[in-house]
Amino acid sequence: MKSQIHCQKNGPFELRGPVRITDASENVTETESMTHHLCRCGGSQIKPFCDGSHDSVRFQSE
Ligand code: FES
Repeated sequence: MKSQIHCQKNGPFELRGPVRITDASENVTETESMTHHLCRCGGSQIKPFCDGSHDSVRFQSE
């Protein structure tokens, strides 16, 4: 299965594995087939992952 990235409207990037994610502190998350959501609004407290803050900051993707 190919890895996929879906840009959700007014929300995060949805990744479908397998993927290897390395954050700015070099922490690595590897997945085989799980779905992960990456923040693109800048408001998450658990970057690079989405914590749902895009709703409270009213992120607009378009
Ligand atoms: S996109 Fe969800 S918290 Fe930023």
